[in-house]
Amino acid sequence: MRNKIVAGNWKMNLMPSEGEVLVRDVLKESLALKYNQSVIFCPPATHLMAVKKVMTELEVSETNYMLGAQNASHKLSGAHTGEISPEMLKNIGVRCVIVGHSERRSMYHESPEDLKKKVDTLLSENMICIFCCGEPLAVREAEAHMEYVEKQIEESLFHLKGEGLSNKIILAYEPIWAIGTGKTASAEQAEEMHAFIRSVLAKKWGSDVADDISILYGGSVKGENAAELFSCENVDGGLVGGASLNPNAFLDVIKALKD
Ligand code: PGA
Repeated sequence: MRNKIVAGNWKMNLMPSEGEVLVRDVLKESLALKYNQSVIFCPPATHLMAVKKVMTELEVSETNYMLGAQNASHKLSGAHTGEISPEMLKNIGVRCVIVGHSERRSMYHESPEDLKKKVDTLLSENMICIFCCGEPLAVREAEAHMEYVEKQIEESLFHLKGEGLSNKIILAYEPIWAIGTGKTASAEQAEEMHAFIRSVLAKKWGSDVADDISILYGGSVKGENAAELFSCENVDGGLVGGASLNPNAFLDVIKALKD
């Protein structure tokens, strides 16, 4: 059975003290999450330890709540000024890392080959990779979005063996035209793409593996649209940007998680 997940990607927002308050406000709500439901906080790197401290202090369940980073180096250590290694992140309690977010692909020129290396390093450290894919508007308008997303997955993930992968990889489909724009993919558009992604994974790794991999939708997810999106058969939760910055808005999305 695949996990249902809401991950909050704060991007480069909030000061550490504000982040602490946000996490505390979300956690004090004591949501009755089921064993297969998880919430992941992905603050900026400077906030990770403070957020972890709150999570430890409030003794949250490690299956239900995880700490995630927005980026990590593909190297484990050495002369890489400005980089942070997966091992360092793991050491302070980070369990997952976002890889291949469209902002990193476009603004920081991360190539499919770079992402592949990041995925490998994370998996070698037994960390979970939240792998993002998604097409720009022009590609959607040209009706080439399926091939585009398939290629992104193929290029950075298909060197992996399928065995045990469902615990190590979370996919996030984020159409670029819906990120931070207030424009969401309709439930039909999301389900069509998610079902397609699952079929691509099944072709490569078999349906047992594909059925167990969580595929999140990202792009202007908020309380108002989360329940409809999450009710789709192949949508296993969301990667949430803007709405993860406010406790009530984030809680509204979490409450829309299905069993
Ligand atoms: P958004 O961002 O929810 O603000 O659209 C989503 C993301 O980029 O992960």
